[in-house]
Amino acid sequence: MPLLDVPRAEEYVSLIRARLSEKTANHCISATELMLTIADRVGIAAAQCVQAGLLHDLCKGMSDEDLLAAARRCDIPVSDVSLRKPKLLHGPVSAEECRRVLGIDDEDVLDAIRWHTTGHPEMSTTGLALYFADFSEPLRTHPEAAEARAILTNEGFMPALIYVSGKKLHHVLTKTVVDPNTLAFHNWLQRKR
Ligand SMILES: [Fe+2]
Ligand SMILES: [Fe+2]
Repeated sequence: MPLLDVPRAEEYVSLIRARLSEKTANHCISATELMLTIADRVGIAAAQCVQAGLLHDLCKGMSDEDLLAAARRCDIPVSDVSLRKPKLLHGPVSAEECRRVLGIDDEDVLDAIRWHTTGHPEMSTTGLALYFADFSEPLRTHPEAAEARAILTNEGFMPALIYVSGKKLHHVLTKTVVDPNTLAFHNWLQRKR
């Protein structure tokens, strides 16, 4: 189904165009389009693709101070890792805005938005699709994005997801701050395989 035929898609596109940089808004649209191409195969609805894909980075433009303040206001747990790297809160804060302001009540969608950066054990199928699309959508310029899409085509969704989570884990292990959810999610995916 074309993206703009899905209910509320136009409203969400206008919202992200007003709130985010052109690059990030285009990334959200591209991620949504990729999710829509795999929706039937993985068993998620077009509305879930549109809500999770278009809105997952809704709060990405907020400053560290504003993200921390919003997290405290919304009773979002702030881990030591998030305190040191508040940008990690853009998923949880975006999910809360979707629930409280936009009235989205699909817990699979909210879960997807909340955990899209690190992944999370027991993540919903919408979450898995968003996690894959966030890394692999065709506007991403890193070569691993095309490789992930090729694995999806040639081997299937689970091998593609494990490839993405492995690449993300490898990347974060080069950083000084590592969110434990990244490793926990990768291990959970391997067991689920
Ligand atoms: Fe993000
Ligand atoms: Fe994103």
